[in-house]
Amino acid sequence: MSAINKEQVLAVRHWTDTLFSFTTTRDPGFRFTSGQFTMMGLEVNGRPLLRAYSMASANHEETLEFFSIKVPDGPLTSKLQKITEGDIVLVGRKATGTLIADNLLPGKRLLLLSTGTGLAPFASIIKDPDVYERYEKIILVHGCRQVAELSYGEELVASLRQHEFLGEILNEKLLYYPTVTREPFRNRGRITDLISSNTLFDGLDQPALDIETDRVMLCGSPSMLEDLRVMFQERGFQEGNHSEPGHFVIEKAFVER
Ligand code: A2P
Repeated sequence: MSAINKEQVLAVRHWTDTLFSFTTTRDPGFRFTSGQFTMMGLEVNGRPLLRAYSMASANHEETLEFFSIKVPDGPLTSKLQKITEGDIVLVGRKATGTLIADNLLPGKRLLLLSTGTGLAPFASIIKDPDVYERYEKIILVHGCRQVAELSYGEELVASLRQHEFLGEILNEKLLYYPTVTREPFRNRGRITDLISSNTLFDGLDQPALDIETDRVMLCGSPSMLEDLRVMFQERGFQEGNHSEPGHFVIEKAFVER
């Protein structure tokens, strides 16, 4: 059996000059846990050109969704950004990744901290009813340079709040905090500063960070991940993985460089 499925593109949306998302068909045999990633890409010159991509769709959805950056000279995304409905993309049959609830110790409040396309695995997680069963509150933070880069997340959260089945529990438990660093917006600043100054929790009318109740998932740029890793470790939080659950887990956003 091939390690790669061929899936058909169902719809593409361009959010900014640098961000787009698309949905595809999903092989019924492709299983994953919300928050995981797989290899995805295109056939180029007769060979698969694949990169790691988090599924932005939840594990119960019939279609797959991906949220991607566009890198003008990126080997994959320079081509991937041109896909249209009906095109074929390649999707690896095996999903993996650390951003899964079982890698965290039990807790009451889940912080999902992302920058840029690091939002993708959390788009999956906030669509999964399982997360609302495990936690009393979920705080989704998305940090970007510009306001327009928030639009995918803003629209997703707004649509989930209207969702027939999920809407009620989401409105009770999900707190969304978009933040921008390089132009005016109602929330400003880097996630690191928003946490250390308590601005994030004050702004949401939530109690301060507490190792007893808080569990954290991080996905974003390498420097953001490193700074947050240090910050949480200084506060006694331990990093979890498949063999030992901890207070926080990390995945880098899979950006072409
Ligand atoms: P800033 O504009 O102050 O650099 P990028 O596009 O470079 O991946 O950044 C996405 C978002 O992450 C930006 O808002 C950026 O803020 C922020 N960011 C970059 N590095 C860090 C870091 N070390 N800690 C926290 N936030 C960061």
